[in-house]
Amino acid sequence: MSVVSKYNRISAVYDIMEAPVEFFLYGKWREEALSSLKGRVLEVGVGTGRNLEYYSTNVQVTGIDNSKGMLDKALKKAKGRKSITLFLMDAENMEFPDKTFDYVVTTFVLCSIPDPVKALEEMRRVLKPSGELVAIEHMRSKNPLIARLEDLINPIMFFLIGDELTRNTVENIKKAGFTITEEKNLAFKDVFKGIRARP
Ligand SMILES: C[S@@+](CC[C@H](N)C(=O)[O-])C[C@H]1O[C@@H](n2cnc3c(N)ncnc32)[C@H](O)[C@@H]1O
Repeated sequence: MSVVSKYNRISAVYDIMEAPVEFFLYGKWREEALSSLKGRVLEVGVGTGRNLEYYSTNVQVTGIDNSKGMLDKALKKAKGRKSITLFLMDAENMEFPDKTFDYVVTTFVLCSIPDPVKALEEMRRVLKPSGELVAIEHMRSKNPLIARLEDLINPIMFFLIGDELTRNTVENIKKAGFTITEEKNLAFKDVFKGIRARP
């Protein structure tokens, strides 16, 4: 089953499923990373729109996702907010011109896009030279014990929700040509990180 089909299938229960981590962890990370952004923001893998409430109302937000089920949920959250536009689009082949956005945001997305480096190259293409990538992601730990645990759980997570726990996401960001300017460990040692990078 493709990643798109998996997200279409879980879209109905995604927000309920995520509610505990959202309350205890993700909510405060989202607010800290997103509330100060300005100008034109592209959110890649917008999902059910969990980030939308954290953007300031004067920010122009464009969100994309390739799962119609997830995007339909985001459309409901965005209703009445003229500054938010959402599109069904593949992150690996974006239809935006070069150098369009001041920020590209990804939260818990680089673990599920089938070719993350290709998508990151696209993100770099659509960012203005003065722009910034703002990411909150989970990845393979450098701690051998935690990494072993991630290896064990990975097949189950991939089967259920198309989520890869063992990606070297910081390396992938660099491979796509970005320069990392901030790398902050958020939880479970170095598994969840807040990352900022320049194109
Ligand atoms: C774990 S969810 C995260 C959703 C949201 N960013 C959040 O923070 O709750 C991953 C999202 O990435 C989307 N996604 C995966 N591959 C994609 C691709 N190639 N293009 C666009 N969206 C993609 C999925 O459909 C899903 O909505």
